[in-house]
Amino acid sequence: MNSNYEHILEPFTFKSGVELKNRVMLAPMTNYASDDETGEVTEEELAYYSKRTGGVGAIITACAYVTRDGKGFKGEIGSHQDNLVPSLQKLANTIQHRGTKAILQIFHGGRMCPPELLEDRTPISASAVAPEREGSVTPREMTEEDIERVIEGFKESAKRALEAGFDGVEIHGANTYLLQQFFSPHSNRRQDKWGGDVYNRMNFIKEVIKEVKSVVENRPFVIGYRFSPEEIENPGITMEDTFKLIDFLKEQNLDYLHISVQDFWGGSIRDKEDKASRVLLAKERIGDKVPLIGVGSLHTPADVAKALEEVPLVALGRELIMEPQWIQKVEKGEEQDIRTTLSKNSQKELVIPDDLWNAIMNTPGWFPVEE
Ligand SMILES: Cc1cc2nc3c(=O)[nH]c(=O)nc-3n(C[C@H](O)[C@H](O)[C@H](O)COP(=O)(O)O)c2cc1C
Repeated sequence: MNSNYEHILEPFTFKSGVELKNRVMLAPMTNYASDDETGEVTEEELAYYSKRTGGVGAIITACAYVTRDGKGFKGEIGSHQDNLVPSLQKLANTIQHRGTKAILQIFHGGRMCPPELLEDRTPISASAVAPEREGSVTPREMTEEDIERVIEGFKESAKRALEAGFDGVEIHGANTYLLQQFFSPHSNRRQDKWGGDVYNRMNFIKEVIKEVKSVVENRPFVIGYRFSPEEIENPGITMEDTFKLIDFLKEQNLDYLHISVQDFWGGSIRDKEDKASRVLLAKERIGDKVPLIGVGSLHTPADVAKALEEVPLVALGRELIMEPQWIQKVEKGEEQDIRTTLSKNSQKELVIPDDLWNAIMNTPGWFPVEE
């Protein structure tokens, strides 16, 4: 092994006591391969995870909906009913191969749920404000009862993850979905205790974290939180808002915070002139209180080693789709063989589910596809 990369392979222990064998995690990535009717994982999906486990310290799964009205993707994993525990168990067992830890990402899509995926065809959100994108629909404003039901949904999903043998959960508070919708001044125009100033807009997040934490007993169990630092909309989440959110999150005794950005070193999406890395700004604000997972367009071991000079853990997304054996190749000193592009005839070899493969092929510029 190249000695420059030794740090990548060093173990890391979370506050809860769960130990990762190295510093690299599979970033949560939706793969559209669960049973679309029931939300159960399929053989196709288990094969995809099986191909990518064993090397990385942890796999954070694709997002899993916590209530039926939170389903945001076709073929998304369900975690919303007790009868899904055996399905979640299969997923955890498949991932926990040669020491890789399994973390379930728990999620509600809010106003971003495509109506055709919902039983009553109506997405719900903090307020009745449509997202700014073509063809979007105006969601129904959540009642007090809806709010309590969805908070309970996050709690129950975490409980099911624990029961199914997962090593932890990641609360998905990023990428414009429901938790972010409550924090955002664009999607949250409420005047009750769930909206108003930036602090009131954190109240939904606070309750979800509190309830998820309440399920842990008897064994070490990771609880992480993912957030997006900014939104492009006006009004929209600014870095100043996010600093206040971080000040709250870092006091919650969580195992980690996970930022969601496209480029680890990238600047503001609100102000192109502001080139300061959002990851580094978040890290500075967090200090040593809680570990931050960095992410975004990291491909080679040199990229990862450089990022790990700034943060204790990194997540790789697209790179591990293109190169499932990334860690094993670093371990063997075969980093020159690590693939950083996607060949058009590699679907079978890389064990990529059909619908994910089609999404990649039909979205130009998303992945570096070889011509
Ligand atoms: C196919 C695909 C699906 C994704 N699905 C999710 C998801 O379910 N939850 C989530 O938090 N982020 C999701 N993301 C974002 C990734 O976790 C990651 O932040 C992003 O791809 C940037 O990292 P990368 O440059 O290493 O790919 C997805 C990304 C991709 C490429």
